[in-house]
Amino acid sequence: MQSQSQRKGIIIAGGLGKRLLPSTYSTNKHLFLLYDKPMIYYPLTTLMLGGIRDILIVTLKSSIESYNNLLGDGSKWGINIQYSIQKEPKGIADAILLGEDFVGKSNIVIILGDNIFHGNNLYDLWKFADSFNKGSTIFAYQVSDPERYGIVDIDTNGYALTIDEKPKIPKSNFAITGLYFYDNSVFNRIRKLNYSSRNELEVTSLNNSYIKDNLLKVNLIGRGMAWFDTGTFDSFLDASLYIRTIQLRQGLMIGCPEEVACRQGWIDKNQVVNLADTMRYSRYGEYLYKMFESNK
Ligand code: DAU
Repeated sequence: MQSQSQRKGIIIAGGLGKRLLPSTYSTNKHLFLLYDKPMIYYPLTTLMLGGIRDILIVTLKSSIESYNNLLGDGSKWGINIQYSIQKEPKGIADAILLGEDFVGKSNIVIILGDNIFHGNNLYDLWKFADSFNKGSTIFAYQVSDPERYGIVDIDTNGYALTIDEKPKIPKSNFAITGLYFYDNSVFNRIRKLNYSSRNELEVTSLNNSYIKDNLLKVNLIGRGMAWFDTGTFDSFLDASLYIRTIQLRQGLMIGCPEEVACRQGWIDKNQVVNLADTMRYSRYGEYLYKMFESNK
């Protein structure tokens, strides 16, 4: 069985962010400030919490410099970050295909750059995916507005029967979240897909190819977890307020790469303090200094 640490991760962070115009004329939406840190920190730390250290970010050419300024090659957090350019937003599956050389023979985990996951059960999601080496594992979350998402219908053994993208009449309230675990057959499957009516290689078509082979396992994320897709103004604000509420209540950060890297043992205390020195005038920097006081 291939464990998470042997998987490689891809963050899909391109797209035009049309639903967030005019702000996305100048800035890739995954760089927006979601409460107190850039949005990309959240999917990035979700992967890091799962033990993933090799991460590819697929984004637009115009954003590469900003990502480099923000994240660099990841070495400051003990991880390896590489970048790939998606010339045009030809779909999520098209973006995944750009990761073929990076991934090599490994299995992969994909996370959409605008997806925020939070809660204790996160570790269980990774464990669940780890128990299946063949095919794909995806996660569904009950929502009140199913017409906004890919919607899955599941059999009694937990395998997907159908997935409909943004259906007018949804078969269930279970939305597919933007966290997908795939075996290495994913690239050949994408190559066989046809472009959709909106001229994209759709992640839903990719998932349907696994369904055809009865290889798409679905795990329902319980109500104790929080999941946001921040693709609209309101969902963006909802996620920001959620992060603010929990952080202020607990005095603990959500989505802090320095903290996750340190807890994983990928960087040490001195490295965190050096990073804090560069941010000493922000509350974020202060948090890094304080991190060790409470852990004594
Ligand atoms: O968030 C979960 C949903 O994400 C799923 O339920 C849907 O099945 C899935 O299709 C997707 O729907 P969205 O409407 O949210 O997809 P969106 O176009 O917003 O793209 C998702 C992310 O992928 C976003 O961060 C931008 C990025 N992207 C998108 C496209 C089309 C790319 O990097 N390249 C692309 O070509």
